[in-house]
Amino acid sequence: MGATLLCEPGLFLLCTLLCSGHAQDAVLTIEPKWSSFFIGEFIVFKCDMNEGKDTDWLYKFNKDGRDFILYSEYKEHGSNITSTGDSGEYQCVGEMKISHDTKNSNTVSVTVLADKPRATLTAGTTIIPVGGSVTLTCSVQSSDGWKYEWFRRTQRTSEGKIRDQENRDIRVFQGGIYSCRGTRGNPVYYTDISDDVIIKKTRKFSNLV
Ligand SMILES: *[C@@H]1O[C@H](CO)[C@@H](O)[C@H](O)[C@H]1NC(C)=O
Repeated sequence: MGATLLCEPGLFLLCTLLCSGHAQDAVLTIEPKWSSFFIGEFIVFKCDMNEGKDTDWLYKFNKDGRDFILYSEYKEHGSNITSTGDSGEYQCVGEMKISHDTKNSNTVSVTVLADKPRATLTAGTTIIPVGGSVTLTCSVQSSDGWKYEWFRRTQRTSEGKIRDQENRDIRVFQGGIYSCRGTRGNPVYYTDISDDVIIKKTRKFSNLV
């Protein structure tokens, strides 16, 4: 359409960008975009041909250069991660239904870690000063994208999730036995729960409770 018009002097650079074909490369993306995955997580491969309509194409997915999902109408493929063997270099290929021309995407590297991660709970101090608070930090070493769940129980009360808290750091004003875990993804994935940390509160007259 406007390609000739765009190639008027002065618009030459814009034309180079629009007409060079670079904007039309096939693109494979993964969702979520974690740097590494764990067994039990769910990954979606999404293939975009960036040319014509989605329905003009058939889509195939390769893993390490071999067929992984054969040609189908589906540009997205969801997969449960079941082993470290799911690690690899993934690529998609589109075949245009009419011309049978094919187009290869970029490759995406997926890494699956063997061990289920465990959250680590650290406390600035374990004794809450009178009128004060203590900051607790929950961390997961491997990968990224974590939110956190916090739990508290006491000698007398059973464990409950601390409501409305998904931050890495929380401030607590009450004594108790605290623990945490990391969560991410949809369907949600949970790390193992951290070790307990006992937080004690200074009372005005007695010592520690
Ligand atoms: C993934 O696993 C869940 C739970 O076992 C199952 O319901 C779902 O159908 C699986 N999804 C795929 C795409 O295999």
